[in-house]
Amino acid sequence: ENDEDLEIRPPVVTVMGHVDHGKTRLLDAIRNANVVASEAGGITQHIGAYQVVAEHEGIDRKITFIDTPGHEAFTAMRARGAQVTDIAILVVAADDGIMPQTVEALNHAQAAGVPIVVAVNKVDKVGANPAKVRQQLTEFGLVAEEYGGDTMFVDVSALNNVGIDKLLDAVLLTADAGLDMRANPNKDARGVAIEAKLDKGRGAVATVLIQSGTLEVGDPIVAGTAYGRVRAMFDENGDSVEFATPARPVQVLGLTSVPRAGDTFLVTDDDRTARQIAEKREAAERNALLARSRKRISLEDFT
Ligand code: GTP
Ligand code: NA
Ligand code: MG
Repeated sequence: ENDEDLEIRPPVVTVMGHVDHGKTRLLDAIRNANVVASEAGGITQHIGAYQVVAEHEGIDRKITFIDTPGHEAFTAMRARGAQVTDIAILVVAADDGIMPQTVEALNHAQAAGVPIVVAVNKVDKVGANPAKVRQQLTEFGLVAEEYGGDTMFVDVSALNNVGIDKLLDAVLLTADAGLDMRANPNKDARGVAIEAKLDKGRGAVATVLIQSGTLEVGDPIVAGTAYGRVRAMFDENGDSVEFATPARPVQVLGLTSVPRAGDTFLVTDDDRTARQIAEKREAAERNALLARSRKRISLEDFT
């Protein structure tokens, strides 16, 4: 890729942490929304992706946020979140401290080489101990700046809207401190499906994150073994969009089957090419499966 083709894109930030430590509430505070209220049982079951505009040093900046569930059953989603992200916000409830999925989330982020900003949440609660959270995390190599380390910790209350601007500043400072956030928007899009489902009325619905290029309505695409032509795209507010540039999450309609979360997608020259790539991949997967089951049978023969 030629340097002159690259343009600044927004940072992609994944919000991770233990169940109920306030990830979705924090995103609600950032977006002035109320997703928490609509979640069944108050548990996030899927990945939500949103783009917001934040003012930083007098300039409006876009940031893409990805919400992940903290429940232990969603290990794969946390791993996926860490892989598509530039920065991780690790949410730790100040009354609860470090819990198993806190550790798992930071392990995923560290394994992916992603810088971590710690949001010490629920500081409004009786029994909140933000100093203890800092102390606990030093064991995992996250040493707060005020303790001589280089990890930014921000005390927040998602409930009371406290510390949100400071947190966004910390995120953008991290982004500007040496992360290369550029992509070429002037080519066919590539990216990753961060979640997908089958919708009764609309068919396959995939939430995709554009990583380079621009995705347009009408583009033939292949995502994993799913293929099709982009029939419509929607942003986080359900508004229809005609195109999506790097770091933009959008819902895509028009795939003939449901891709798997984590599948990469790309735009092809025509519908036929998209179908051929999908069919090739499907055949390769079938063969790999067959080879595996044959191996199992022959092993059993000897035991
Ligand atoms: P999962 O997605 O299920 O992992 O949970 P989550 O981390 O997204 O937590 P969620 O945002 O659903 O918040 C869990 C509960 O904590 C909700 O009842 C929130 O209202 C509450 N909560 C979140 N942030 C704060 C806070 O800053 N202070 C207080 N007191 N409560 C909070
Ligand atoms: Na929750
Ligand atoms: Mg949640």
